[in-house]
Amino acid sequence: MEAAATLPLLLLLLLAAALPAPSHGWGVDGHLMVCQIAQGRLSGAAAAAVRDLLPSYAGNNLSSLCSWADDVKFRYPWSSPLHYIDTPDGLCNYSYDRDCKDEDGVKGRCVAGAINNYTTQLLTYGRSSAPQYNLTQALLFLSHFIGDIHQPLHVGFTSDRGGNTIDVHWYTRKTVLHHVWDANIIQTAEDDFYGDGVADYVDTLTKNITGEWSEQVPSWEECGKNQTACPDIYASESITAACDWAYKGVDQDSTLEDAYFSTRLPVVNLRLAQGGVRLAATLNRIFG
Ligand code: ADE
Ligand code: ZN
Ligand code: ZN
Repeated sequence: MEAAATLPLLLLLLLAAALPAPSHGWGVDGHLMVCQIAQGRLSGAAAAAVRDLLPSYAGNNLSSLCSWADDVKFRYPWSSPLHYIDTPDGLCNYSYDRDCKDEDGVKGRCVAGAINNYTTQLLTYGRSSAPQYNLTQALLFLSHFIGDIHQPLHVGFTSDRGGNTIDVHWYTRKTVLHHVWDANIIQTAEDDFYGDGVADYVDTLTKNITGEWSEQVPSWEECGKNQTACPDIYASESITAACDWAYKGVDQDSTLEDAYFSTRLPVVNLRLAQGGVRLAATLNRIFG
């Protein structure tokens, strides 16, 4: 290509790289970690079903497609309210009947309803030679939404759209509170502590799951008798964590730096680990 043609292209690429990527749910790395933790904890039957349902180009790697649901929000506009739950301002609790609806008030159209729906679809796996549902999409949606529901601000207040309208500075950079929890805390942890990026980070979380958190892990996996998915538990924990940690001490135009980072990172790490453990437990219950 001629230099004259390459230069504007380079500028365009640089510009595109400088713009904040719009994201819903944990950023790409958060979803990747949840799915990588989960895939390492699958039963034989669940591992076989996941291998069967993943498209061949994924190379049996669930984590490579755990942000797919974010990529299709524009192709499937009906799916965008399925990534979160808006709860009443200042209440700090969650009720499925009260809160799981979209902006038009259609019941069940929220991340908890979506988890129930895709779980029900996946329970038909292996039951019919002519499947009623696209179970590959069901697996990718379920894997993504179990990650999202563990991000505290994906169960946030209605008027600030889960922190999306709260402008803050993350150190010197302008962002919004929602994005701090989707991506900035994770990114700063990778930069500060994990030389090899996300692989080292997953390794540390996995070691904690089998080490210092191992006594709590069975309680994370619990779900009522005869229940396959338990999104309401995860949503209640998220709005509690949103009030206790995400919103606490933050105002419009706050600057968030070391004091916020060091006190909130343990919460982010716990939620990533719980998301991974619970995605595996749910898939293990679905596929037996
Ligand atoms: N849009 C409205 N509320 C939201 C939330 N809690 N998370 C992500 N996107 C949203
Ligand atoms: Zn999402
Ligand atoms: Zn988000």
